[in-house]
Amino acid sequence: MEQQNATISKIERLCTDIVRLTLYAPSIAAKAKPGQFINLKTGPGFDPLLRRPFSIHNIDGEGHLQVIFKILGKGTSALADLRQSQTINIVGPLGNHFQASPSMCLIGGGLGIAPLLFLARSILGQQDVPTLKIILAARNKQELSCFTPEFEALDLPLYLATDDGSLGHHGLVTELMPTALSGDTDWQVCSCGPHPMMSAVATICRQHKWRCQVSLETMMACGISACLGCAVPASDHNNTGKQYLHVCQDGPIFWEGDIKWT
Ligand SMILES: Cc1cc2nc3c(=O)[nH]c(=O)nc-3n(C[C@H](O)[C@H](O)[C@H](O)COP(=O)(O)OP(=O)(O)OC[C@H]3O[C@@H](n4cnc5c(N)ncnc54)[C@H](O)[C@@H]3O)c2cc1C
Ligand code: FES
Repeated sequence: MEQQNATISKIERLCTDIVRLTLYAPSIAAKAKPGQFINLKTGPGFDPLLRRPFSIHNIDGEGHLQVIFKILGKGTSALADLRQSQTINIVGPLGNHFQASPSMCLIGGGLGIAPLLFLARSILGQQDVPTLKIILAARNKQELSCFTPEFEALDLPLYLATDDGSLGHHGLVTELMPTALSGDTDWQVCSCGPHPMMSAVATICRQHKWRCQVSLETMMACGISACLGCAVPASDHNNTGKQYLHVCQDGPIFWEGDIKWT
């Protein structure tokens, strides 16, 4: 983990409330693994005081890393107002990372799609490329289209869904799983998105005995395991006595069986 001032190489509004930030941060980009995140200081002053966590969306091998974020409140609004060539203080790479397996399906919902591009690209860069399928969903075409061009360029089986039917299947990602994950394959699913979506994906994986990793998002104060504010209930199926897991310290990537889904 490092702290450094990163230069903003590009800041793009992909749609009304979604922004892609490209940062020049060579030492953090060189160490980053898919699923990890960075903590960004959103401005020069003390308001907002706390850094904001964002998954690493992409790295380019030339020192750049990208995050994609939705403008929600004070922190993301301040980030969206930044301009090219400004510097921003970042800490990273933080957290653990996704693990690869021979037959993989990546399932992303909303802004949870962000870390899956880095994961897909890194899997495709391996010597023995696994079977890889991708299912992406968002509220509508506008939101999903912020992500689709780069996934389409990967030339992989890609299944799309929107809540309003404006692009791809009209409905939930889980409704696409039987089509995408047919056959006797021993799939491993990697999922990131809203909690109810990941819970539903995890249930289907459990029914089929497919392994499933999820990337959890919680509110985070410190991001470095000092405040314990990012606790999620643990299933304790291994009888470790742990009632809670901490997303910044133990995650953000978890095997679904380690989580007590509520
Ligand atoms: C490991 C990790 C990775 C993340 N990756 C991304 C990413 O790639 N892209 C992205 O857009 N967002 C991501 N997030 C969420 C992002 O950190 C928050 O959206 C951001 O911190 C909001 O800051 P804000 O100051 O704009 O909002 P605030 O003013 O802090 O809050 C505005 C509203 O957003 C809600 N909110 C704030 N943080 C979260 C959160 N973590 N989860 C759900 N609701 C929240 C608040 O409850 C409130 O209603 C990630 C979070 C974590 C923990
Ligand atoms: S955010 Fe402080 S311990 Fe995880």
